[in-house]
Amino acid sequence: MKLIYQQMLAFFAVIITVIVVLGFAFIRTTRTMLYQNSWQQLQQYAASIEKEAIRYNTKTNQVVGFNQQFLNDGTVILRDQHIHFSVYDANKKVVYPNSLGGVTAESTPGGSIYDPKISAKDWKKLKQNKIITQAPHVTFRSRNHDQPVNTPSLRTIDVLVPLFYKNGSTKKFIGAISIGSFEQTLQANEQQIEKNLFIALLVSGIAALLLSYVLARYSVRRINRLRYATHSVANGDFDIQVDSNHKDEIDDLADDFNGMVNSLRGSDEEIKRQEKRRRDFMADAAHEMRTPLTTINGILEGLAYDVIPEEDKAHSIELMQSETKRLIRLVNENLDYEKIRTGQIALNKTNFDGNDVLHNLVEQLTKKAAAAEDHFELTAPAELPVWADYDRFVQVLFNIMQNAIQFSQGSVIEVTASRTEHAAVVAVQDHGIGMTPDQVKNIWERYYKADPSRKSTKYGESGLGLAISHQLVQQHGGSIQVDSAENEGTCFTITFPDEGFDKPIMDD
Ligand SMILES: Nc1ncnc2c1ncn2[C@@H]1O[C@H](COP(=O)(O)OP(=O)(O)O)[C@@H](O)[C@H]1O
Ligand SMILES: [Mg+2]
Repeated sequence: MKLIYQQMLAFFAVIITVIVVLGFAFIRTTRTMLYQNSWQQLQQYAASIEKEAIRYNTKTNQVVGFNQQFLNDGTVILRDQHIHFSVYDANKKVVYPNSLGGVTAESTPGGSIYDPKISAKDWKKLKQNKIITQAPHVTFRSRNHDQPVNTPSLRTIDVLVPLFYKNGSTKKFIGAISIGSFEQTLQANEQQIEKNLFIALLVSGIAALLLSYVLARYSVRRINRLRYATHSVANGDFDIQVDSNHKDEIDDLADDFNGMVNSLRGSDEEIKRQEKRRRDFMADAAHEMRTPLTTINGILEGLAYDVIPEEDKAHSIELMQSETKRLIRLVNENLDYEKIRTGQIALNKTNFDGNDVLHNLVEQLTKKAAAAEDHFELTAPAELPVWADYDRFVQVLFNIMQNAIQFSQGSVIEVTASRTEHAAVVAVQDHGIGMTPDQVKNIWERYYKADPSRKSTKYGESGLGLAISHQLVQQHGGSIQVDSAENEGTCFTITFPDEGFDKPIMDD
């Protein structure tokens, strides 16, 4: 079943149940109220009959007679209101109406006599001076058949009132009055109420149906919106977002959905970036090899055809040597990278003073820095204990300091060393060209160069330096972080943890 119908059914069921329950409660209350009215009225009649029409024998405490005139008048008046009564003596014998009473059998509907039977139980209660009220029931008996006449119009609502003779402190049971009203008017009232209630039920049923449709449609529409959004995401649209008012569970679901789409978009971008890197990787690697090979090939051809002047030959051979070295270095660095990445190299870790090493490095690179009009500023504690492979420590810092020179011009390069509780930290800050966040994401990849023309090979760099440095620091169990802003500068922060805190971080 569609959700909208399920929801409608649920709403509808709830509303109808409430209306039906309330309706029944209402009918019951009004009915009881109607009965109570009738009983009260009947009791009042009984009281006046007792007062005006019954004569007692004060000695025997018996009903001895009636004010016939009063009774007859009263009977006629009451008859018009469909009210009938009987009087019983202490022996449960009907003393009024009787054949002498003047009221004939024809006075009751259907030519019968109103002669309700009082049960022994009720009689006992009457003797205890209790008034008995009886809800509508069939008490009317046909004189001819002595069978209950089971037509609703002949149902009566009765009150049995005990008669007591009071004289000072003596109180004696002398009989009872049974007074009843034929129920027609009561029934008409009841029927009217039921009819109204039925109309109310019908109207509210229709209203409930409409309301439940509106409510159900509202929530189903919100769910459908999520469904359409899900379809779009399944079709690769990661920009979709679902509106949310942060109010209920569906809004929560929408929020979660939006969060999910955002992280999917992130993964999608990451996958695309990696795919692009993979594609670029082969081209970059080929390019790095081809450049020196082309140079060597050109010189060799020149030598073969003897087109290189004698005085240039020495220089040409020198060039070939340097290009061959470059190739060898490239191959070695590649092998190194793989070995480091797979944990195949053994790190020969020792404790040494990093302060000395940094001073040496700055000294070595000062000339190179001067060529780019850069200069170093080293801040380090007098002693900087470092736990690392000495050569690899030098290699990593050399790479990063050399990059700082390579990518900045005429500015200061700050090298700051410090200690944390369990590690030595070195930060290299330059004020050069910096990088965009997208470039930062790729710098740990082999052959990656932010410069797409790959022309900045001033120092024979091949885009392997940071990839290797990154792997080396990870093998030391340390970390290497980069903060960079385009045209402002870059800061690399390298952490070498102390002995016992240097569990290597393995890359996949
Ligand atoms: N200090 C720096 N400032 C700006 N860009 C840098 C810096 N260090 C590295 N990069 C970027 O990261 C890339 C990779 O660096 P690296 O692995 O050392 O390769 P290479 O030095 O051969 O270019 C560089 O080409 C450059 O785009
Ligand atoms: Mg480099």
